[in-house]
Amino acid sequence: MESRVLLLISALFLPNCMCVSTNLEDRAGWLSHGNETECFERIGCLTNSDGWYKLKRPFNPFPSSREAVGTNFKLYTRENKEGEELKVDKNDDIQSKYFKSDRETKLIIHGFLGKGKADWVMDMMEALLQRMDANVVIVDWSKGASTLYTYAAANTRVVGLEIAYLINTLIEKKGASARMFHLIGHSLGSHISGYAGERIHNLGRITGLDPAGPYFEDMPTFVRLDPSDAILVDTIHTDASMGFGTSQQMGDLDFYPNGGKNQPGCFITETEESLSDLPSCSHSRSELLFVESILSSPFYEDGKDGKCPFISFTCESYEDFLDGKCLSCGKDGMNCALMGLDADKYPGLSNPEMKRKKFYLETNGAEPYCGYHYHVNLTVAKESKGQDKVVGDLALTATGETGIAKEMELTTNGARTMSKGESYSFLGFSSVQTGKVSTADVKWKWNPDWFSSSICIFCNKNLYLSEAEVTDLGYYPQDKFKTSETCQPSEPEEIDSGDGYAFQLKC
Ligand SMILES: *[C@@H]1O[C@H](CO)[C@@H](O)[C@H](O)[C@H]1NC(C)=O
Ligand SMILES: *[C@@H]1O[C@H](CO)[C@@H](O)[C@H](O)[C@H]1NC(C)=O
Repeated sequence: MESRVLLLISALFLPNCMCVSTNLEDRAGWLSHGNETECFERIGCLTNSDGWYKLKRPFNPFPSSREAVGTNFKLYTRENKEGEELKVDKNDDIQSKYFKSDRETKLIIHGFLGKGKADWVMDMMEALLQRMDANVVIVDWSKGASTLYTYAAANTRVVGLEIAYLINTLIEKKGASARMFHLIGHSLGSHISGYAGERIHNLGRITGLDPAGPYFEDMPTFVRLDPSDAILVDTIHTDASMGFGTSQQMGDLDFYPNGGKNQPGCFITETEESLSDLPSCSHSRSELLFVESILSSPFYEDGKDGKCPFISFTCESYEDFLDGKCLSCGKDGMNCALMGLDADKYPGLSNPEMKRKKFYLETNGAEPYCGYHYHVNLTVAKESKGQDKVVGDLALTATGETGIAKEMELTTNGARTMSKGESYSFLGFSSVQTGKVSTADVKWKWNPDWFSSSICIFCNKNLYLSEAEVTDLGYYPQDKFKTSETCQPSEPEEIDSGDGYAFQLKC
């Protein structure tokens, strides 16, 4: 026992000390003591094998007792908005007035320092009940979550056992079906869902909202959320750079809004949040995006006006996505999925090759977060007075049947180099949906790349287009609508001062 305490103390100095030789990682088992097992009354046992120990996860205390973690479940339904406590009794049975086994059951699980009464949890519960007749269960483990991160991370394992025990009892005693359960967990709650899923045969779905990174990233699958934990595992990554989240793929479908690292509206100059809330702004955004997806869905109320689907595009990288390389859903719709509640409508789910994909989309920085993507395809004229190669930035204002999308930046990923006779794709994003585009105003600004030989002092800095196509991608499924238009550009105006001009495309 004494040596174990000593070991823990010395391990305390390890986590951020990358000065330790890396081959220590191979022997990280030195931190462990073989397989240690601890059992929790009635809900099961947990083992710490060598695989639990890595440099990034140097200690693995066992969770606190069931009582100390204090997990409890509250069931909300359309018939009962007050909430009814769900509890497995001494006879391994559950007494409930409102649980119905013939409808879907959604469990909402908070994360580190969270609680079941948090605004986003209550908002999600209410939105779910508005959308569907479901059993919505709020999982509160606030006692176990309000401690040092290391211990909260350990406590998640006991919450996982509690959830598996509850669901398996509902299956056995109430005739519920595992496929009709959906766990929605934020941060540590994502990994809780993974632990529960490991112990529920054929669990339907897990949604990981910004799965926690520290202590979980790069760990073996039995330590973290992974695709084997449920029939469908989808995640939303929103804070991979601040350290709360991770960019590691952990699901069948991983969504990366705005690249998944930092969220718009969360930069220090943009937000009204107090400084103490700032670090969690991007991390919490995943909660708000999911809540919005429930009612802004085209599958809710027959896609009545004002619906905005979180259409996401599969792509190799965020940079490629920003460069407009991934803006087609494909004939069969396989390249697009909806982020949030409707991720389960993805047409490729039954095809194993189509799983394990990364999906990208842009969002607004404030509610409503959902917006509209545009595919802009510009063809540079073959014959013109222009240079063989031009380099610069573009912005586009598109006017259509239903609105004006103003000043969409097309080169957020940096100035584009374009050659005569070639076509180039760009991504535009706006909070406004234009429908069929009738005119488009293009702003062009010569922007030389000083590191290449594209410096142009007395040369013609104009961009000459022969054709352009602007497509509103905000419809789902896409093939129902024809919204792309070929536009004929006007002659560009001559530049006075030599740096920028605008021209109009008539579509
Ligand atoms: C520890 O557990 C793992 C898997 O549960 C097993 O493969 C391994 O042999 C065990 N090691 C010891 C020392 O018991
Ligand atoms: C862009 O437009 C050109 C010319 O109309 C066309 O040949 C090309 O296929 C288009 N590219 C994309 C990606 O739509």
